[in-house]
Amino acid sequence: MAKLARFSISLDQDLLQAFDTLIAREGYPTRSEAVKHLIRGVLVDEEWQGEGNVAGAVLLVYDHHKPDVIGKLVDIQHDHMDCTICTQHVHLDHNNCLEIVTVRGPASQIRQLLTALRSVKGIKHATLLTTTTGSTLP
Ligand code: NI
Repeated sequence: MAKLARFSISLDQDLLQAFDTLIAREGYPTRSEAVKHLIRGVLVDEEWQGEGNVAGAVLLVYDHHKPDVIGKLVDIQHDHMDCTICTQHVHLDHNNCLEIVTVRGPASQIRQLLTALRSVKGIKHATLLTTTTGSTLP
């Protein structure tokens, strides 16, 4: 278990009140847990700026009736096999599908994959959820 360190910070009263309101709304048990979560969030954002491996998910919503949209999505994922782990397909309604592509690898490669997937005709929305492999995050 990592050694615990303590530090104190000074804040404007208004800022602290806003933070405490956020803590209560988000359900953090303590200020310390909230601060840890925020610090890790910044560190994960920084991981995505570097060259190391990161993890995440690409979310795609599309109309599967568009010509060969599924075939094109599969081709692109095969072209990016180094960073594509698996895909989950959800039939949202008669026309629309949600595809969740779990990804891991260098952030630059994952962004290239997102750009390629987003460019397919028939894609209504494409977004990237960014997280970490956890291997370098304390
Ligand atoms: Ni479907």
